[in-house]
Amino acid sequence: MQTRSQQQRRQDRDAQVAARGADGVVLSVRGLSVEYRARRGGVKAVRNVDFDLYKGESLALIGESGCGKTTLATALVRLLVRMATISEGEVLYHRDGKTVDVLALNEGGMRHFRWKECAMVFQGALNAFNPVLTIARQFQDTAQAHGLDDKAEIDRRSRDLLRKVQLDPDRVLPSYPFELSGGMRQRVLMALALLLEPQIIILDEPTTALDILTQRNIIDMLNGLRKELGFTLLFVSHDLAMAAELADRVATMYAGRIIELGDVYDIFNAPRHPYTYGLMKATPTLHDDASEMVSIEGSPPDLIDLPPGCKFHPRCAFMEEGKCTTEDPPLLEVGKRHTAACWFWPKVEATIEEEKAAKGVSRLNEAPAEQLQASAPQVEGRA
Ligand SMILES: Nc1ncnc2c1ncn2[C@@H]1O[C@H](COP(=O)(O)OP(=O)(O)O)[C@@H](O)[C@H]1O
Ligand code: SF4
Ligand SMILES: [Mg+2]
Repeated sequence: MQTRSQQQRRQDRDAQVAARGADGVVLSVRGLSVEYRARRGGVKAVRNVDFDLYKGESLALIGESGCGKTTLATALVRLLVRMATISEGEVLYHRDGKTVDVLALNEGGMRHFRWKECAMVFQGALNAFNPVLTIARQFQDTAQAHGLDDKAEIDRRSRDLLRKVQLDPDRVLPSYPFELSGGMRQRVLMALALLLEPQIIILDEPTTALDILTQRNIIDMLNGLRKELGFTLLFVSHDLAMAAELADRVATMYAGRIIELGDVYDIFNAPRHPYTYGLMKATPTLHDDASEMVSIEGSPPDLIDLPPGCKFHPRCAFMEEGKCTTEDPPLLEVGKRHTAACWFWPKVEATIEEEKAAKGVSRLNEAPAEQLQASAPQVEGRA
């Protein structure tokens, strides 16, 4: 059974897709590859990634620590560290019928693109505030760095946004960062990201450093803001509960590639890639017996020396010698708006159906996706 809110989200999603039309895509990523130069060789952190981001949607990038989520998100706004290079691919940004080739933009064009078109809040940014400047000054500096000089207008916008993220501007604006809690700083970061009214917001692990109750509040706040302002959200999380609650679609990454992409309900209840299936089985729900949780055996591959064939084959229970060990599968269509890079996805489907039948349920996760434990499903470090 789908819960009411899941049904509602599915209907909203169908309406969103129907309304997309030809110009519904705001960002198209094609064949994107990023390598870090390391002493041992090139680290293939992002490999041949393709996806489209649709106007107004929320897309979650999930996967174990080190699978390339941050590198991919950072490459989209070209803020990679010096030893990283975008070796291949294209990132096209679409607005008002015009297309911008992001990787070809010069420095000035890139400054405009970041914040005004696409704002990113980095992993660990909670500690990145300048400690000697008040929050008001941080809003002014950000606005002025992007050509907004009218102080009264900056003050008006900052106050308006702080109220939207449920903070009291009179309390927060004169404060220094250390005077605010982690949850308050995360809200301020969100307001700062919205200051120049970008079409796309990228958030990297927005709740990782926060306690469970604060995480809950931030997720509710983000859902409220999305409804009110309609921006497009791409967020990175190893917290599957967060993905379940905040995403319309989910992309699973493994060893630098997107290996499954689909609507959130399908990814959680009808995954077709053995790795996504493994992540779901390793995720506790409020109703599950913890002893039923199964972690994924083995560890992710060395990104300098990847195995031949499917990169998941050394860990895969569905692996077949020959095909899996020699040919890396492309993303195959496995359902409506659902793709997975697995040669033997029908076997995964059959196994899940058998499991559901044995449990007497119609879903892989007995609890609704919303009830996945907010505290426990940390993929990070789970090898
Ligand atoms: N500065 C760096 N130098 C060399 N390799 C790096 C660097 N940063 C990340 N990597 C490599 O890229 C891979 C992907 O990292 P990252 O994008 O941070 O993953 P995630 O965000 O999924 O945890 C890591 O496994 C690591 O090996
Ligand atoms: S292609 Fe083969 S090894 Fe790769 S996920 Fe599918 S079954 Fe497993
Ligand atoms: Mg990361």
